[in-house]
Amino acid sequence: MSELHVMDHPLIQHKVSMIRDKNTGPKEFRELVDEIATLMAFEVTRDLPLEDVEIETPIKKDKFKMLSGKKMGIVPILRAGLGMLDGVLKLIPAARVGHIGLYRDPDTLEAVEYYCKLPTDVEERDLIVVDPMLATGNTAIEAIKFIKERNPRSIKLMVLIAAPEGVKQIQDAHPDIDIWTAALDEKLNEHAYIVPGLGDAGDRLYGTK
Ligand code: URA
Repeated sequence: MSELHVMDHPLIQHKVSMIRDKNTGPKEFRELVDEIATLMAFEVTRDLPLEDVEIETPIKKDKFKMLSGKKMGIVPILRAGLGMLDGVLKLIPAARVGHIGLYRDPDTLEAVEYYCKLPTDVEERDLIVVDPMLATGNTAIEAIKFIKERNPRSIKLMVLIAAPEGVKQIQDAHPDIDIWTAALDEKLNEHAYIVPGLGDAGDRLYGTK
């Protein structure tokens, strides 16, 4: 069963409250999303494997822990996921980056993948899929479905704000995927916006509204 991790670190909570504020403009919004993504990446990578490496300090040679070279990938879901990318890369600079974009066909209402470029060695990589808002869960479910067709080693989903409806949908559709969120909000409204949420994350990031 997929696990939900809600990050209640005070720094994360403070910054999430700031991006909720409708008076926070795009520049500050982008900076905060970047910082939150970095703080979240710290926790999402807690299970990275370590190995003993011999290092000589000025005093003595000894064995010390270092990352054991696990191959990682970060996959923002276009477009709002891009706002979280650099923040995660700050902590995992060697990660490769993939992109996935979907739109909903207005006639069939099916999600259609219009862009997907993942690292060529994705089968050896552990991926973190990033998207700020987990609302109905439809986009993330479809994105993860398309990504799974390329057989990555594992997938984690990292979002800023989740609605309980979206969490349940992901857990039903992808019980093998763990979810990390900075906040679990109340519900969705009739327009599928998260309440209280922060509005449209893409528009807030890029000032398109
Ligand atoms: N997407 C957003 O950007 N905001 C929401 O509240 C829901 C979906």
